[in-house]
Amino acid sequence: MEMKTKTLLILYATQTGNALDVAERIAREAERRACTVVISSTDDYDANSLPAEDTVIFVVSTTGQGDTPDSMKVFWRFLLQRNLGSHWLEGIHYAVFGLGDSGYQKYNFVAKKLDKRLSDLGATAVVERGLGDDQHPSGYEAALDPWLSSLWSRLNEIKPHFFPKGPDFLVPNEELIGLPKVQVTYHNVNDMDSRLSTATDFKYLQMQIGRARSMSSGKVPHEKSKPDAFLKMVVKNFPLTRASHEKDVCHFEFEFVSQVIKYEIGDVLEVLPSQSPAAVDSFIQRCNLDPESFITVHPREMENRHIDNNVNTLDVPIKLRTFVELTMDVTSASPRRYFFEVMSFFATAEHEKERLQYFASPEGRDDLYQYNQKERRTVLEVLEDFPSVQMPFEWFVQLVPPLKNRAFSISSSPLAHPTQVHLTVDVVSWTTPFKRKRQGLCSTWLASLDPEQSIYIPVWFHKGLLPPPPPSLPLIVIGPGTGCAPFRGFVEERAVQSQSSTIAPTLLFFGCRNENNDFLYRDFWLSHSENDGVLSEAKGGGFYAAFSRDQPQKVYVQHKMQEQSERIWNLLCEGAAIYVAGSSTKMPSDVMVAFEEIISKESGAPRESAVRWLRSLEKAGKYHVEAWS
Ligand code: 2AM
Repeated sequence: MEMKTKTLLILYATQTGNALDVAERIAREAERRACTVVISSTDDYDANSLPAEDTVIFVVSTTGQGDTPDSMKVFWRFLLQRNLGSHWLEGIHYAVFGLGDSGYQKYNFVAKKLDKRLSDLGATAVVERGLGDDQHPSGYEAALDPWLSSLWSRLNEIKPHFFPKGPDFLVPNEELIGLPKVQVTYHNVNDMDSRLSTATDFKYLQMQIGRARSMSSGKVPHEKSKPDAFLKMVVKNFPLTRASHEKDVCHFEFEFVSQVIKYEIGDVLEVLPSQSPAAVDSFIQRCNLDPESFITVHPREMENRHIDNNVNTLDVPIKLRTFVELTMDVTSASPRRYFFEVMSFFATAEHEKERLQYFASPEGRDDLYQYNQKERRTVLEVLEDFPSVQMPFEWFVQLVPPLKNRAFSISSSPLAHPTQVHLTVDVVSWTTPFKRKRQGLCSTWLASLDPEQSIYIPVWFHKGLLPPPPPSLPLIVIGPGTGCAPFRGFVEERAVQSQSSTIAPTLLFFGCRNENNDFLYRDFWLSHSENDGVLSEAKGGGFYAAFSRDQPQKVYVQHKMQEQSERIWNLLCEGAAIYVAGSSTKMPSDVMVAFEEIISKESGAPRESAVRWLRSLEKAGKYHVEAWS
């Protein structure tokens, strides 16, 4: 008989880091039960070894239109091989937890198809798959908590060998606090590191950012630490919406200050926002740290717990303040529940300790939700509410949410602006139930910048979900709200192309609340609808705007599409591609339904045929959706 390992394997496939968070939590809970675990990203794991495992826990995210994260592509292709057969994983147990967003049509699609495939290959599920939903007010944790408790009780029943110290054993909490994931080493270095916020040399900045982020414990696998380029803001149209309007949308234009990066329409720009220097200083002071000390940060050795092929080679010391500024989001809202749990160990005032313990317990979940998520308490505020807590810096490095890049759809065409990038940004602010004003870090920072000042903005470019269409491809484009951003780039590009070649028709549907308040880029769209512009009738195109709140009943982009159903059908028959972008409420799925209705009505075919037809359009790579929340 083949020898099976006695370790519990946790495989995760993450795009933004959430699945890694969940995998780490499962690993932590397993270790507290004296269970030996190995945790690995799917692409660092050799799928050939699966039949030799005992039990495998999968934590997988779904991205885009039901796609696997990049880090799972190879693994998934391997699992799909026909020759594996229905007995390949016989005797293996598994459990799947998915992270998804029910605003998308293919909700948690990756978790569902992985679950089915594992079962088809002969493996046995330990518990029913769990599905975390971003749309849930308390996020994926709402589904994760009950899923985990049934996982542990079921594993205890059927796999007692994982728990050598018995079903009720839990490592005492006191022992855990000596085990943060990272180690911080202090160095004696002569001071060459100037304050980052006043640095003007972008090569130096690029190096510091690369260094700090490669050491950060919040590093997302495969994310490039060093920025691709630096931009400088040259135009700020603030706001694009009327001042009285509750949502401020801004148009920003940036020039490259470092080398020019070639990008395409539909690409995504990631921006690393700058934190408020005052907040960084308060945090360092609150934690009793020396901002001027030099540190390196390493993952702590954990008996082969982590399979990680990305060995960190950039361990040159960095100033503590620089590290905090570039990697730790000290004003980020709603730290994880584990943050409260660890804080409870380090609270010296009894009443604080009790409150923190309560927050970290299952009974305290709703109250923690009110205190933490609903009020969007920041890390700094939480620390101020519990003044007796003094944690080692290692724990802060591990638990303060990482300073993340913010992604925006590029709203310009490089053909029209070869040395520029434009963005259309919702400047996010809202009021909590206790009437405290909250602001989005990146958008507020961008809106505060003065184009007269030379502030270097670190950016990364990558492909989004909207591939650039060739000029000869007819387009049906739906972009309500800031969803119109990438399509401004599309129209700009076609306008340039039309000077030298024939362009195919473009139908564009835009939606906003009021014609007079938030009609983004009104003059731009209208000018391209005139004469023989890209959106003009003369070019076979059209521009249609839906104003949802200008009349008693809602008028949405779908309604405008229904009014143009014949034109839409004709263009589809000519081979048009569909592009949809916007916030991930129900809009993308409502638009899909509108297409089904239009196709069925115009072709006279039953609804199921229309659905099949749209599926084939998706398969052929002619139905693209980019949605964000
Ligand atoms: P509303 O806010 O009045 O409901 C851009 O956000 C526009 O998209 C707004 O006019 C918004 O309308 C509209 N919108 C909201 N939900 C939508 C949906 N499910 N389908 C299409 N448009 C929607």
